[in-house]
Amino acid sequence: MKHIVIRGGHRLEGVLPVQGAKNSVLPILAATILHPGTTVLRGCPRLSDVEASIRILRHLGCDAQWQGEELVVDASSVSRWDVPDHLMREMRSSVIFLGAILARLGKAEMSYPGGCELGPRPIDLHLSALRKLGAAVEEKGGRLCCEAAALEGREIALSLPSVGATENAMLAACGARGETVIVNAAREPEIVDLQNFLRSMGCTVRGAGSSTICVAGGQLTKDCIHTVMPDRIVAATYLSAAAAAGGEVELTHVDYRHLSTVTAALHEAGCRVIGGEGRILLRSDGALKAISAVRTAPYPGFPTDAQAILMAALLKSRGTTVFVENMFDNRYRHVDELCRMGADISVADRVAVVTGVPRLSGATVRCTDLRGGAALMVAGVSAEGETCIEDIHHICRGYADPVGDLAALGADIRWEER
Ligand code: UD1
Repeated sequence: MKHIVIRGGHRLEGVLPVQGAKNSVLPILAATILHPGTTVLRGCPRLSDVEASIRILRHLGCDAQWQGEELVVDASSVSRWDVPDHLMREMRSSVIFLGAILARLGKAEMSYPGGCELGPRPIDLHLSALRKLGAAVEEKGGRLCCEAAALEGREIALSLPSVGATENAMLAACGARGETVIVNAAREPEIVDLQNFLRSMGCTVRGAGSSTICVAGGQLTKDCIHTVMPDRIVAATYLSAAAAAGGEVELTHVDYRHLSTVTAALHEAGCRVIGGEGRILLRSDGALKAISAVRTAPYPGFPTDAQAILMAALLKSRGTTVFVENMFDNRYRHVDELCRMGADISVADRVAVVTGVPRLSGATVRCTDLRGGAALMVAGVSAEGETCIEDIHHICRGYADPVGDLAALGADIRWEER
């Protein structure tokens, strides 16, 4: 079994380019099937979730091949509209294929994605958006069956700004007659990237980044080349690691505007953070102080995906920091693992209280989920002694080369078979 082993206590120094964003490339990969032609994706990170999406694309009839660092998808001959159970189980966010398959073929079938490690993740908003456009959606024996003789552009008002439901609605709207207006849309930067991608395939779409997105339906006709935006959560991970371990790190291929709540928190904790065009510099002496309450919220609020990561950076801070998780029910599963390393954290419902401790000690810990695993790496670089991180397949869902990246910054980190 492969693990990640870290010997903490080394300052992090150096310049590191940030990989392309997982949460951007997954909906983009689903969107490739909207155009019966070729798409080239640059900066597509090699992640297990990306490989799972490639398997779905191939099952549907696409040709998807890596050509060096580029991923080339030819969706000329999409012939199937079902996603089999074993491919759905690999990745919960494959539900995003629903809107795209429906738009391309007029029907789609897949298993219900169900819960995941973050607790129940309903898809009622996805389904009601598709229904609004005229799709009949039924659940038969745990399978979701969607069908629409013709999708019609409509107003879709989301009751909360769900990222996935916004993306599914955008993709389905591409196959509708007329204009769709999505109200109370999620405003995450990854949705802007999806809009940019759809535009480069020939779609008329506007408003992404705001709460109202308008999509004009119609055949997407253009072959295109798209460069995936930088991953803001991976950037937050390496900034937090440098904050906790101490050092000076410059991240490139990053958009500092996407990270303002994270960098504000690190600044408040005592780091010097300078954002420039395409880069962020962070300097830390490793002696952090507690900060005011961190409350997760939809973008532009503090990202739930960075909650565990920032928490890990503050474990040795002077004072007490309160975290309030407002997005998911089960997002403190990393806490027990951090406590095995000597952290002082108490959790009650949505609130976690972190009281800084003088030192963390390396331990054998287990990833409970993707960002919880990233938090263990952040704690590991600032702990004394050796930390062995198990169940790292969670980390590989979102980090293309976590060991190579942190080693490039001077961390003592390695893969190990045990
Ligand atoms: C996406 C991200 C994930 C991130 C999350 C919140 C991807 C692949 N994943 O997940 O990393 O943590 O945004 O920023 O981009 N909800 C409903 N009904 C629905 C859909 C969502 O009640 O039909 C609720 C969820 O339970 C959750 C909240 O809405 O409480 C936000 O979820 P959502 O924005 O949909 O997250 P995802 O798209 O699943």
